[in-house]
Amino acid sequence: MATLNEEIKRRRTFAIISHPDAGKTTLTEKLLLFGGAIHIAGAVKSNKIKKTATSDWMEIEKQRGISVATSVMGFNYGDYKINILDTPGHQDFAEDTFRTLTAVDSVIIVVDVAKGVETQTRKLMEVCRMRNTPVIIFVNKLDREGRDPFDILDELEAELKISVRPLSWPINIGAKFKGVYNIYEHSLDLFTPDKQKATERVEIESIDDPRIDAAVGEADASKLREDIELIDGVYPEFDESEYLEGKVAPVFFGSALNTFGVKELLDCFVKIAPSPKPVEALERRIDPEEPAFTGFVFKIHANMDPNHRSCIAFVKVCSGKFERNAPYKHIRTGKSLRFAAPTAFMAQKKSIVDEAFPGDIVGIPDTGNFKIGDTLTSGEEIHFRGLPSFSPELFMYIENTDPMKSKQLEKGIQQLMDEGVAQLFTHQFNGRKVIGTVGQLQFEVIQYRLLHEYGAQCRWEPMTMYKACWVESDDPDALAMFKKRKHQFMALDREGRDVFLADSSFVLTMAQNDFPKIRFHFSSEF
Ligand code: G4P
Repeated sequence: MATLNEEIKRRRTFAIISHPDAGKTTLTEKLLLFGGAIHIAGAVKSNKIKKTATSDWMEIEKQRGISVATSVMGFNYGDYKINILDTPGHQDFAEDTFRTLTAVDSVIIVVDVAKGVETQTRKLMEVCRMRNTPVIIFVNKLDREGRDPFDILDELEAELKISVRPLSWPINIGAKFKGVYNIYEHSLDLFTPDKQKATERVEIESIDDPRIDAAVGEADASKLREDIELIDGVYPEFDESEYLEGKVAPVFFGSALNTFGVKELLDCFVKIAPSPKPVEALERRIDPEEPAFTGFVFKIHANMDPNHRSCIAFVKVCSGKFERNAPYKHIRTGKSLRFAAPTAFMAQKKSIVDEAFPGDIVGIPDTGNFKIGDTLTSGEEIHFRGLPSFSPELFMYIENTDPMKSKQLEKGIQQLMDEGVAQLFTHQFNGRKVIGTVGQLQFEVIQYRLLHEYGAQCRWEPMTMYKACWVESDDPDALAMFKKRKHQFMALDREGRDVFLADSSFVLTMAQNDFPKIRFHFSSEF
């Protein structure tokens, strides 16, 4: 039997992030194929949350059910146990995605070679940077016409604000794409556009090996040598420790659809990506090797059926061994809870598990005990740092339209916020409730769920708002003065923290200039 330490060392828990359409689903599926978790291409694809052009809420609801299955995909690859956490690609689910990133130990970013870095990727990378999450970049769709790889590298550095280091390099792209030279392993992989076949590998001694000329032709071989020389001149040697500190991102090139460059990515990934790391709790640092169990809830998946107000809380195991039916302390309420039917996700199947180790995700059926960010332990009073909230992008006042149901509305709003569907701010000037989201669709979702699950009716009143900023200062008088001067724009978040509601970027800049002693934060983790 493997020891706790061995179980930890072999785990790789990560998320794949990308802008919709860059190839995340395709890459996920190919990784699962390599892990033997699925046997045919297309298996994940059919589970995908389709990109709905309109805010087709009923369609999204149908697909939510399906997305539980793909929330966590666990599989074994060689000696490694890999957990891929799915980050919903639909734009309106961005908040959920942010939180998922707090439960991973590393990230693979997929970028489309023709489109480069796109908005969603940029935003998600900000979260990775905040937490120094190690990232590997996969530049996808090399079989299609795209941008010059050197330009892509420059753009990655500029847009994602991280140093990069190519570990593989393409020989042409688009129609002339011939393959990649694997800088990490010093090998040459030739491209054959075939969705089911793995790469054809040419054994070479070094970049000067004449077998490269024989395989790709003299012209392309000498261009490759020039490129590699340039890369070695410009980019420092790959340093694994810098990658682990989140300072440098290795870059791979390939084509997920053609299963090209994917195995190389996976082989390098399992070697260099981190196993579960220690986590800073409020009280102390928790090492995964500690025998006592600790974990936190990073995602709650509600059952949309109003007759069963049950949900699944996703718990990331941070230390020790999680065991079925063992008594665990729910820190926020002080209750002792036992879980009779915890589930884990292996090879696309959800099944009841008896134990789980650091890095694993356990799904716990719940009827309203859990809130996003809750800590569970074997008994010790530990509080994992609350997951950060980010400034929402859209804001509306929420108004009750059925005065007989104000209790229900209140309760519904509280529970939906606990689940992390959106953020609630209370305006200090007029006492009104403001709901902030990252996508228009969430307003529809909230309205629908309040009605169907809580019997409460609401309407939305638009408001002009640019950003919600958490404000603080070392100087209490300066903070008091700021709050007095801006009292029409002050609100409290659910934890009672001061939030400045800036209605335009101009107003925010002015406030920053006028009040140098105040710090403005766009995320609640500061
Ligand atoms: P996403 O999860 O990031 O949104 O992307 P997804 O994998 O769904 O890929 C988006 C589209 O890009 C898909 O085409 C997919 O087949 C295609 N694609 C992914 N990787 C590659 C690649 O390496 N080369 C090329 N040429 N295309 C790639 P689609 O037409 O939207 O879907 P489908 O009809 O193929 O299923």
